[in-house]
Amino acid sequence: MPEANTAVMEFLHTRRSRPAKLLQDPAPDREALMPILTAAARTPDHGKLEPWRFIVLEKPALNRLADAVEQCGAETGRTEEDIAKARQQFLDSPLCVAVIEVQKPSEKIPAIEQTYSAGAVCLSLLNAALASGWGANWLSGWPSHDCAFSQKTLGLADNERVAGFIHIGTASAIPPERPRPDLDSITTWLDR
Ligand SMILES: Cc1cc2nc3c(=O)[nH]c(=O)nc-3n(C[C@H](O)[C@H](O)[C@H](O)COP(=O)(O)O)c2cc1C
Repeated sequence: MPEANTAVMEFLHTRRSRPAKLLQDPAPDREALMPILTAAARTPDHGKLEPWRFIVLEKPALNRLADAVEQCGAETGRTEEDIAKARQQFLDSPLCVAVIEVQKPSEKIPAIEQTYSAGAVCLSLLNAALASGWGANWLSGWPSHDCAFSQKTLGLADNERVAGFIHIGTASAIPPERPRPDLDSITTWLDR
């Protein structure tokens, strides 16, 4: 049998996001965040294109995004409820890392593989934050899909989009376990 890394397997079998609403200060400082970002950047990436980058949103930036949500939401006809929810997520966040998918021109690597890799970065970042003892949650919401919003507030280029907002802080409570998939119903074994 191969030698198992039991600590990592134990983590993977028990890991659980901490809902963003339960996150409070303190958040990791720059020194504490660096190993988390380093782990996230060690993600499978076909062709070494590095089709992603990070934007770390500290408190003043989060407040600025909250204000921009209000303005952009009104301009694009979002409901008051949608605007308030998105605004509150930025206001409540102790720290947020926006994982940015950066589509690189390639004759060999399809665009969708770059998208998958950016999603994998989001999960790695989430897991690295959780494994470091922080509470963390991967959120999207309409601002992450609104190109005008992200170009204006985060300075994204035309080949860039938000893959995920990873909110990180100190969890004020541990949420109840979430039902997990029934393995038998999602797994097919082919032996020929
Ligand atoms: C791409 C993506 C976007 C998500 N966006 C949201 C969101 O906007 N709001 C939300 O409540 N959960 C969202 N989730 C779900 C949570 O991040 C997470 O899956 C859920 O809390 C359970 O996490 P766990 O399996 O780590 O416990 C999103 C998940 C993914 C993969």
